[in-house]
Amino acid sequence: MRLCVIGSGYVGLVTAAVFADLGNDVACVDVDEKKIESLNNRIMPIYEPGLEEMVTRNMDEGRVSFSTDVDSGVKGADVIFICVGTPPKDDGETDLSYIESAARTIGERLNGYKIIVNKSTVPVGTGDLVRRVINETKTTDANFDVVSNPEFLREGSAIGDALNPDRVVIGAPTKEVAVKLLELYATLGSPMLITDVESAEIIKYASNSFLATKISFINAIADICEKVGANVNDVAKGMGADKRIGKDFLNAGLGFGGSCFPKDVLSLIHTSGKLGAEFSLLKEVVKINEERVNHFVHRVVDRFPDVGSCTFGVLGLAFKPDTDDMREAKSIDIIKQLTAHGAKIRAFDPVSMDNAAKEMPDITYCDNAYDALTGVDAMIVVTEWREFKLLDMERIKGLMKTPVIFDGRNVYDAGRVRSAGFEYFSIGRG
Ligand code: UGA
Repeated sequence: MRLCVIGSGYVGLVTAAVFADLGNDVACVDVDEKKIESLNNRIMPIYEPGLEEMVTRNMDEGRVSFSTDVDSGVKGADVIFICVGTPPKDDGETDLSYIESAARTIGERLNGYKIIVNKSTVPVGTGDLVRRVINETKTTDANFDVVSNPEFLREGSAIGDALNPDRVVIGAPTKEVAVKLLELYATLGSPMLITDVESAEIIKYASNSFLATKISFINAIADICEKVGANVNDVAKGMGADKRIGKDFLNAGLGFGGSCFPKDVLSLIHTSGKLGAEFSLLKEVVKINEERVNHFVHRVVDRFPDVGSCTFGVLGLAFKPDTDDMREAKSIDIIKQLTAHGAKIRAFDPVSMDNAAKEMPDITYCDNAYDALTGVDAMIVVTEWREFKLLDMERIKGLMKTPVIFDGRNVYDAGRVRSAGFEYFSIGRG
């Protein structure tokens, strides 16, 4: 099939690469000339395992192209995927200006029947908005249909998630339109769900908000565990063994960050408020999440009342492992709070330090974890990169000024680090 993907951000780029890999002819277009130029030079704008290899292979074999030529992209396609950003406004409402602009772009160039697919995360009713804008701007009598096909991939495992989704959700105005789009996914052999457009739009927000709720729930349980000397990891294991609950997304820690959960939860709160149904449960989810870092920093300050004269070694800066994304990363909040007290920071992250330096230019970035921990008063683990689990604890003890660990992601076995001579603070583990 001939596809056009509008937007070469996270979702757009992965969508273009994966559909090309499945044998389609994909034109990925973006207004950002610099991004397109670097993609054409085979430089990926994001760090995502396996992406560069898949993109370059499909470029070499002529199945995917990157350009700013929206005109040919739209006119030459049977199916157009809208994959533009949907950032939050100050009050949590989703800013749909990029979606509206993509819809106008399509309307002005509609030269025959096309299926327009909303893959961006958009509030319920956006399918309608896209249809209205295209109808207002089109200059021919060509027909079109608007479909909602939410994306559930995670950063860091985007390619695997896109090739092996738990489900493909298609919200379409008719079964015939849904079936046409399903053809694109047929080879994946994943479970498919056909719904109306509005239900598909809600599935995306409900899924992200539910996962965020699971995280805040286990973090609230972690606080109880901490007070009574219980172990939240064991509690999560015991809960997760019940298939109705499920073991995933029950890792207690510093809370959820990234470009999706924080904004999507706020957007759903906003949407339900607008509809007169206050979603107080989700408001509490946000509140619990926002308290995580304060609680963690308090523990550091309790242990080091002279925090202003301390240096901390921070391991992990990205909002989660296997990505260089710093959006809503907990490291920013933690480091800003500690430096506001006068503390110095030595930090290391395997891939996000360039992005981190834009946000926090005044801390010391180190070559590796051992370098970051040299001479520091305490180690602070913020992101659970696999390589941090395998550090040589004896060596670290020799490098640090005082052997104290604050583990914000429960990376280490408490018994092991304590018997190695460390004072160890973790989340919800006594
Ligand atoms: C999330 C969803 O998982 C995807 O399904 C969805 O497609 C995506 O948002 C999106 O809407 O685009 P992502 O933001 O990449 O994916 O990352 P997750 O792996 O979901 O993690 C989100 C945050 O929750 C991270 O800060 C992570 O550290 C935190 N988390 C996750 C926990 O604190 N505990 C857990 O048990 C799991």
